[in-house]
Amino acid sequence: MNDFSPTEFTLDYIFDSLGALPAFPEVVQKAMKLLDDPNTTMEQLAEVIKYDQAITANILHLTNSAHFGLSRQVTSLDTALALLGQQQVRQVLVASASMPFLAKDIEGYNMTAHDLWAHAMGCAIISEIVAKYCEYPEPAVLFTAALLHDIGKTVMHLYVGPRLKEIVTKANSQEITFSEAEWDVLGGDHAVIGSDILRKWEFPPDVVRAVRNHHDPDLYIQDDLSALLAMSDILTVQLGIGVGVDGFRYRINPELPSRLGLDQAAIHKCVIEGYREYQNAQDILGLINK
Ligand SMILES: [Fe+2]
Ligand SMILES: [Fe+2]
Repeated sequence: MNDFSPTEFTLDYIFDSLGALPAFPEVVQKAMKLLDDPNTTMEQLAEVIKYDQAITANILHLTNSAHFGLSRQVTSLDTALALLGQQQVRQVLVASASMPFLAKDIEGYNMTAHDLWAHAMGCAIISEIVAKYCEYPEPAVLFTAALLHDIGKTVMHLYVGPRLKEIVTKANSQEITFSEAEWDVLGGDHAVIGSDILRKWEFPPDVVRAVRNHHDPDLYIQDDLSALLAMSDILTVQLGIGVGVDGFRYRINPELPSRLGLDQAAIHKCVIEGYREYQNAQDILGLINK
């Protein structure tokens, strides 16, 4: 994987390699489709999930974390699903299935497995607060986009690891944004690559688009989900949660807060509440070490 000359490292090469990526767990895909049908019962859902032991174990760990706020320890999948609401079931499903993909060291970006998982989970948790202040009606969809928004970084690390240092050097020496450096070196950035993975994994088109747009200030302003995701990511970085070497090196559209109807006071509340919720979720972050 490391033997390619610079000219062979192109976006096409990465896209060709995506076929070799592990599939998103089929059990979770099926469960998500079931959740789209309002007539689905939690028993039907448990019937699909229970044969996957790793997912079931993760769901139980997540369900018992403070973040999901159940008052008693739950040891069976049926009970867990029954006690969580529809939106929270969707969240624990995506989070439990994403964990193995997100908990990876990414040397080029100077991120440990813990950093990437913390950034993903932190952004997802903060997105719930942002959704609340913006009265966004589909917080679980935003949660999914937030959790997976930087998944392109793990793929870039897998397939073009050695070129990541070149991107960092270029961004620093030429004082350009990280996205620009990624485009210069690879012909695309982690947002484009991430959105392609999510398309392959059959995530909804609005999630794919929001992930595609998350560092593009002209694009993320154009639809609610993209704008909400960009704002959640910016606040997560400002709070220093799982920030890599690329941290603050992105352009921000100054119209983003007003696009979302957020004034300074509301943003301040999002930051305070978001950080508190993130602190409450430390047991979720610890899951990757289990
Ligand atoms: Fe990103
Ligand atoms: Fe991010």
